[in-house]
Amino acid sequence: MSAYPKSVRIVEVGPRDGLQNELMVVPTDKKVQFIDMLSESGLQTIEAGAFVSPKWVPQMADTDKVYAAINKKAGVSYPVLVPNERGMESALKAGVKEIAVFAAASETFSKKNINCSMDESLDRFRPVMETAKRNGIKVRGYVSCVLGCPYEGEIKPEAVAKTATALHDMGCYEISLGDTIGTGTPVKTRTMLQEVKKDISPAALAVHFHDTYGQALANILVALEEGIAVVDSATSGLGGCPYAQGASGNVATEDVLYMLGGMGIATGVDIAKIAAAGRFIGETLGHATSSKAAKALAAKA
Ligand code: HMG
Ligand code: MG
Repeated sequence: MSAYPKSVRIVEVGPRDGLQNELMVVPTDKKVQFIDMLSESGLQTIEAGAFVSPKWVPQMADTDKVYAAINKKAGVSYPVLVPNERGMESALKAGVKEIAVFAAASETFSKKNINCSMDESLDRFRPVMETAKRNGIKVRGYVSCVLGCPYEGEIKPEAVAKTATALHDMGCYEISLGDTIGTGTPVKTRTMLQEVKKDISPAALAVHFHDTYGQALANILVALEEGIAVVDSATSGLGGCPYAQGASGNVATEDVLYMLGGMGIATGVDIAKIAAAGRFIGETLGHATSSKAAKALAAKA
């Protein structure tokens, strides 16, 4: 068995992937407070919103206001999702320093999520990448449906590798592999990652698990064994995807931190501060946390 990484970077996606799927449109000032609390936890990357169509995802319609108001802590990156040139214009206007483009390994999901084919999406990203490069903006790339699609079922590892490599070749500095509907299991995760790693070094890969079937931590462990040291997660296990019915939240940041802490893997993130941010957003949303670690810590306190 391979060694585990000594440290892991957590990419907190709660304010975007989490809040985009809540029925409640969280008021701007509460989003800002949530992100400001997260900024004090030691996180290095906090996804702050999405410049997508407000008709498609009304929960993210105030991203420009949120981005303008948050306390941008030195050393912390606040990427936002950008699906096309229109979104890139908004990102430039807002002054963002990092964006994320998002593609899929499933043709049907691509159509349902961004209203174009997989190839068309890559064509849309090319001018976005050029503008980003000209303006010194870093670009992360997502691949959705890496371990299953809500419309097509099984997805071949080769299809994942193809999309991931296309994004990487285009200039994305990191590719986040998304188990959008949380159907993945450990052996499938390993097979998929080994296929992607044929073309992309694990240093340029991240994993993004939704926890629908409770498999996320097991899958993350496999990703660590495969040399991947960047993990996406959402405080409180917020999240889902409006175009992937039945998908539950991202793996909870608190649960990932508890596991990594127990393994002696450094993250620089204070689990108590994340749990406090989770309580704050839970009160705003009016529902309890999905994080087992957060519940256990609260019971002990
Ligand atoms: P479309 O309807 O095909 O776009 O949507 P269009 O170019 O035909 O334009 C239609 C209208 O939308 C126009 O306005 C445009 O101006 C406007 P109108 O003239 O009708 O008033 N428009 C925009 N407005 C604001 N920002 C923009 C923008 N672009 C066009 N950027 C589009 C295509 C891509 C825009 C749409 O499908 C969309 O916004 N999709 C986003 C869906 C989304 O955000 N999904 C969730 C994020 S992905 C995810 O969660 C997965 C991930 O977590 C990883 C994983 O778990 O796997 C990342
Ligand atoms: Mg997601």
